[in-house]
Amino acid sequence: MLEGKKVVLAYSGGLDTSVCVKWLEQRGAEPYALYLDLGQGEPEVDVKGKALKIGAADAFVRDAKTEFCEEYVAPAIKANALYGGKYPLFTALGRPLIAKKLVEVAREVGATHVAHGSTGKGNDQVRFDVTTASIAPDLTVVAPVRDWNMSRPEEMAYAEEHGIPIPVTKKSPYSVDANLFGRSIEAGPLEDPNHEPTPDVYEMTVAPEEAPDEPRYVELGFEEGLPVSLDGEELGLADLIAETNAIAGAHGVGRIDMIEDRLVGIKSREIYECPAALTIIGAHKELETMTLTKDVLRFKAQVEARYAELTYDGLWFTPLKRALDAFVAETQKTVTGTVRLKLYKGSATVVGRTAPKALYNKELATYDPNSTFDEAAAAGFIALWGLPARQWAGVNGGIEEESPATKP
Ligand code: ARG
Repeated sequence: MLEGKKVVLAYSGGLDTSVCVKWLEQRGAEPYALYLDLGQGEPEVDVKGKALKIGAADAFVRDAKTEFCEEYVAPAIKANALYGGKYPLFTALGRPLIAKKLVEVAREVGATHVAHGSTGKGNDQVRFDVTTASIAPDLTVVAPVRDWNMSRPEEMAYAEEHGIPIPVTKKSPYSVDANLFGRSIEAGPLEDPNHEPTPDVYEMTVAPEEAPDEPRYVELGFEEGLPVSLDGEELGLADLIAETNAIAGAHGVGRIDMIEDRLVGIKSREIYECPAALTIIGAHKELETMTLTKDVLRFKAQVEARYAELTYDGLWFTPLKRALDAFVAETQKTVTGTVRLKLYKGSATVVGRTAPKALYNKELATYDPNSTFDEAAAAGFIALWGLPARQWAGVNGGIEEESPATKP
């Protein structure tokens, strides 16, 4: 069924996707490899040369960092998108972009198929497949790893048999995915949820106990909901994220250890490192508390949870996502200002904020006698606010102090 078909494969240069190239070629397909730079760091090998050597008809290496930041990470920052209230979704944000780029190359070379190296147990397969269906329903998605059911040793044997270079470095027991916005580490000893991650798990962060004894202060400047400067220096989003990763990571900020609910029903144990993501979202949320009304903040919290879920679930290119983006964008018009954070041994604590359109008003809030707040009006307000409670107590004789739930 793949005979003579052009297939564009998301290629990482690693063993899995290298084997995919061969697998496709052996089925008579014409494989094209696409390596995308989402800020995951330099590839260890000459990916283009490697793909061609294995049997790709052509191979492309493209830098998508700016697009990733502007079109995927930026809206997620505005939406404070954290899955399960914790995970900043960097992998989930990268997948729809990779799928979109696969489709782009498919159009360039006239391919009818796209392919990815995801297994059948994770979320990534869903994101690739659903994104492709959403933006290019005429294309067929192939997932060789999901279909072939090869064990690791079988895969190695297959690679050896076909002259595919096997990484000589000592194989890490972990499964890692990384981009500019974070790094995820799964599998191996981490599958025991009671096992504390050992130092070899981490690359972007130092252990909090080994972080400098002196705190580091950083100032993030925001404009309409997005960070635009670091310590007064204006930076594009990609550079700002890269620098914040380095600074916050050096202070042990950004580690997450969580049990996560995958879309396919599995609970999985995940370790994440995302110093910039947590620092920026923490600061952004704080600036919102200064500049948005109570009503907007409360409603937005519901939108944020839904936004995180749909991102996680591969529904990036959907009408709901579009509509929520419009809501979020509307809320961000006044979210401008600076947030000062103290980075210290694993924590990024907001210690100051200023905003030209701050709703915080010191004259109102101050306990000084010259406050502009009308305290006399408070008494009348409370009389009406408490009216239903007073009414109920009058009729029923007051609510008992101990709640039934705490009674023995
Ligand atoms: N659990 C995270 C997610 O679903 C990270 C997945 C990492 N993917 C990978 N192929 N290692 O977004």
